[in-house]
Amino acid sequence: MAEPVSGSVQREGAAPPILSVRDLRLHFDVKDPKGWPWSPARKLRAVDGISFELRAGETLGIVGESGCGKSTLARAILNLLPANAGSIAWMGREMRGAPEHEWLTMRREAQMIFQDPLASLDPRMTVAQIIAEPLRTHRPGMDAAQTLARVRAMMQRVGLSGQQINRYPHEFSGGQCQRIGIARALILEPKLIICDEPVSALDVSIQAQIINLLRELQQSMGLALIFIAHDLAVVKHISHRILVMYLGRSMELAHKQALYAEPRHPYTRALLSAIPSPDPVRERAKVIELLHGELPSPIDPPSGCVFRTRCPQALARCAQEVPVLRPAGAQTAAACLLLTPPEPRCS
Ligand SMILES: Nc1ncnc2c1ncn2[C@@H]1O[C@H](COP(=O)(O)OP(=O)(O)O)[C@@H](O)[C@H]1O
Ligand SMILES: [Mg+2]
Repeated sequence: MAEPVSGSVQREGAAPPILSVRDLRLHFDVKDPKGWPWSPARKLRAVDGISFELRAGETLGIVGESGCGKSTLARAILNLLPANAGSIAWMGREMRGAPEHEWLTMRREAQMIFQDPLASLDPRMTVAQIIAEPLRTHRPGMDAAQTLARVRAMMQRVGLSGQQINRYPHEFSGGQCQRIGIARALILEPKLIICDEPVSALDVSIQAQIINLLRELQQSMGLALIFIAHDLAVVKHISHRILVMYLGRSMELAHKQALYAEPRHPYTRALLSAIPSPDPVRERAKVIELLHGELPSPIDPPSGCVFRTRCPQALARCAQEVPVLRPAGAQTAAACLLLTPPEPRCS
């Protein structure tokens, strides 16, 4: 069932969205390793009906446990993995079904940075070559002197010294490698950067530096960001709105203040309970709703609400009805049947 994009959780008084994703679905055909070689492939629903909008200068945090489909969603948005259904509108233009040259243009304006900074950089290339690579692909006419000047300016902007320009990735720390990845993503002056767990592999002190750098760049360049993390603590300071995902679906989409002050979905509450509070009074008063068990398989998801098998408040009807994202407050939409009264029965 399509999830409506709730108007109540869009930014107020804002310009039209640069990216609009509606009911996006992507499944992988997978073979059961224990099955017979001739048994048919099964569908693994990695992204199962995600909708959101994003405006210039805005950050959407996307959060959920490992395996819930965050990276697949990021790749589907850029057609690095083709979606099976739904809509991706970029600058008002529908991209699904568009020819490859239009996707190339979009990928020039919407760049991506990755979780493992060192692994995402070619070890045989110098910093200058890595950062200049998108220019070679998308601006083949630019001469060497111009390219070098742009690379130097970008290195300075992300906090790297010009003296490091001829060094190789293995000579840098994880945080510096991520700065190189950010410089490469920014060199074409994109409108959007999709950051797929950009700080998950970094030490906590370095995480804050990279998040602050992304915030500064966002403000100075008017960038939109999609910031993916598996932890609600990481996205708190950078996001305007947050999408909570579980097993390929949206559980809650809310403005940051609403989500942290008054989480509406039991899954969001469980994720928030996992964050230790620096305030001992609040920490003691916190109702701990810990998650039990493992994430179910997206090949054979639970019927009805996919979260019901781990939900402390699940009711019998949660096995029968699929909840859709509905307004659950002025700045929140949540997909939970506990927030929706049951349909009156005709006798
Ligand atoms: N290429 C693939 N083939 C089959 N299954 C995949 C592939 N990539 C990811 N998956 C599965 O899709 C689901 C979502 O994965 P992913 O998007 O990487 O999650 P996340 O980024 O939230 O950790 C997982 O169950 C994962 O095992
Ligand atoms: Mg991932």
